[in-house]
Amino acid sequence: MTNVNLMLFPEKWGSVSGFLSALLLPNVFPRYFHFIFASLAITGLFLFWYMGRKSYPFDNYFKNLTRYDLKKKFYSLTLAASAAQFVMGPLVMLTLPTKGFSWNLILVILTGASFSLPAMYWMWKAITGDESNIDKNFGKIVTLLSITVIMMGSGRHIYRANALDPHRKLMAAKTEAFIKASEEARNNPEEEVTLEIDTTLGDVAVGGAVFKQYCAACHLKDSKLVGPPILEMVSIYKDNPDGLISWIKNPGKKRADAPQMPAFGNQLDQDQLNEVSKYILSIK
Ligand code: HEC
Repeated sequence: MTNVNLMLFPEKWGSVSGFLSALLLPNVFPRYFHFIFASLAITGLFLFWYMGRKSYPFDNYFKNLTRYDLKKKFYSLTLAASAAQFVMGPLVMLTLPTKGFSWNLILVILTGASFSLPAMYWMWKAITGDESNIDKNFGKIVTLLSITVIMMGSGRHIYRANALDPHRKLMAAKTEAFIKASEEARNNPEEEVTLEIDTTLGDVAVGGAVFKQYCAACHLKDSKLVGPPILEMVSIYKDNPDGLISWIKNPGKKRADAPQMPAFGNQLDQDQLNEVSKYILSIK
């Protein structure tokens, strides 16, 4: 339930760090008890019916209770749990961020809640009334409380749709922009990249230019940028230029605190790969 709750709030995904911190979002516990009380209410109704059936071997299990006693207990459970919902429900609403609210939602929730009122009244009458009347309104009670449950379920759905609407729109807009940009890029392939060769680098000049063009955005000489510094590459690959080349072509995933490095197997040809690794390994 913590995870399902968290799904409603993508804006919190950056600040929540794991299960326990998601558990502490304000509406998790009210929601939890709202579900638990609903389950107890349904359980009471179910057992009222199940143990009250003529074919249920009641006398085998219960020596000191009558069917009537038991039915009263189950109605009391359902009634108490339903009454508790009139506290839990508002608490759930109060602790939910307002971003998902709409009149539509409030109407559905209030209608759902009001359907349970006559059901509660009939249960009260059955518990306090004459023994012969205990089963009198059972069908109606089940129907009304089912409507309540359906309305609450719909309310939950409406809240979710409202809360996620801006995120859905943003995703749609970004997806559309991405599709457009990638189409544009496909239709206008980039000119051959011309490398800026710095001849002062001598025989690693080509490799230096490749590095500047393709790697320098993420790698500095001696401090971490997006990826590790060149000096770290040198210490890993000084005796293994082939290993370096195969990493560049097809990088693995090593460092937990770094994103995945893009692969260069398609962009760089074998000569450029040789040159850039020669350049890297020449750095001291
Ligand atoms: C978009 C950013 C980015 C670009 C561009 C980039 N790298 Fe990386 N590089 C990374 C990241 C991030 C890591 C760390 C990945 C990891 O440890 O999982 C990394 C790690 C490395 C490593 C260390 C491998 C190891 O075994 O630990 C080498 C070597 C390397 N990059 C070389 C290059 C070269 C050469 C280029 C240019 C052809 C390049 N990188 C371009 C981000 C980048």
